[in-house]
Amino acid sequence: MPANKKLLILPGDGIGPEVMREVRRIIEWMEQRRHARFEISEGLVGGAALDAEGVPCPDSTVAAARAADAVLFGSVGGPKWDSLPFERRPELGILRLRKELGLFANLRPAVVLDPLVDASSLKPEVVRGLDIMIVRESTGGIYFGEPRGITTDAAGRRTGIDTEVYTEEEIARVARIAFDLARKRRNKVTSTEKANVMQSGRLWRAVVSEVHKAEFPDVQLEHMYADNAAMQLCSRPKQFDVILASNLFGDLLSDLAAALTGSLGMLPSATLGAVQPDGRRHALYEPIHGSAPDIAGKGIANPSAQILSFAMLLRWSFGMEEDARMIETAVEKVVAGGLRTADIMQPGMARVGTAVMGEAVVRELEKLA
Ligand code: IPM
Ligand code: MG
Repeated sequence: MPANKKLLILPGDGIGPEVMREVRRIIEWMEQRRHARFEISEGLVGGAALDAEGVPCPDSTVAAARAADAVLFGSVGGPKWDSLPFERRPELGILRLRKELGLFANLRPAVVLDPLVDASSLKPEVVRGLDIMIVRESTGGIYFGEPRGITTDAAGRRTGIDTEVYTEEEIARVARIAFDLARKRRNKVTSTEKANVMQSGRLWRAVVSEVHKAEFPDVQLEHMYADNAAMQLCSRPKQFDVILASNLFGDLLSDLAAALTGSLGMLPSATLGAVQPDGRRHALYEPIHGSAPDIAGKGIANPSAQILSFAMLLRWSFGMEEDARMIETAVEKVVAGGLRTADIMQPGMARVGTAVMGEAVVRELEKLA
C-alpha cells in the first residue's frame, strides 16, 4: 500500500467549498477502490480566513501548506470583501502562498474537448482539438516588483507605481519548465514578451534564447510579442503548443486562452516550485475559474475544473499517472454522455447540478476501474 500523502485542502470562497465537496467524493472512491491513502487537512484562505481570523492568508495556512506534499486550492474573493483595504484583499491569499512557497511556474492548460467544441465563441474548425499549455511565471514581475505603491507629492498629486522586474535566474528557471513540458508534448515553445518596449522583455528574450541554445536545442522556439500572441490566440490558436509568459502577460493570455475553450468550468491549473535537494517540490493546484459569487451556494457550479485540478495533483505531486488519466477520462466521458452543468449547457443535453456531475464522474471511474 502506498505511503500516506499529505494533502492540504483550501476550499476558500464562493463556489470553492461546493466544488471541493465533489473532489472529496472522488478521494473517498479512490481510498476504497484504488487503495490510495491520503492524509488530509483543511485550512482557511481568502474571505473565509478574513471572516474567521481577520487576514486573507493566516500564518497557520502557510505553515500547513509548507508541511503538505500538495495543496488543493478552491477559489477566493467575493463582493462581501470587495471594499476591504488593499492589504487585506482575499486575493492576497493566493499571492502569499505562491510567493512564500516559491511556486514560480503556473501551468494552465487550455483544452477543447470534442463534445464541447460548440461551446467556444470561435468557429468549431478553429478550435477543434485545441490543446495549449500556458506556462506563466508566478512569483515575480510586476506582481511583486519594488517600488510599488501610491505616492502623494507636496501639491497633493498622486502617482501609482508598479515595477516589472525579472532576474535572469527567474526567467531561466521558468523557461526550463516550459521547454521540458514541450518535449512531452508537440515540442514547441512560444515565448512572449514586449522586447520592443520593455527592458525586462529584452532580457526575457535573451535569457530564453540562451537556455534554449544551451539545454534544449531540440525544441522549436519562437519569440512573439505578447500583444501579437493575444491576437494570434484568437485567430489561429492551434499554432501554439506551450506558451511561456511573464506573470502579468500570462495572467492575461491564460484568461484569453481559457475563454477560447468556452468552458472555464473545465480548466484546471498547477503551480509548481523548484525541486528541493530532498526531491520534494511544493505545488498548488486550483481551477482557473474564480469564486463565481453569482452562482455560489446554488449547487449549480461545474465541479470538473476542481476535479481535474486534483488529477493534475495526482500526476505532478504523487506520480499517480494512471489515476490521473482515469479521472480525466471519467470527466470526459460524463460530458460526452450528455450531462451538462449550466456553464456548458447545450441544446439536447441534460442539465444537472454540482453533485450529480460529481456522482457521474464516480460512476464512470467505477466502470474504468
Ligand atoms: C489568477 C488570478 C489571480 C492573479 C488573482 C486572483 C490575484 O487572476 O490566478 O489568474 O492575478 O494571479
Ligand atoms: Mg487571472
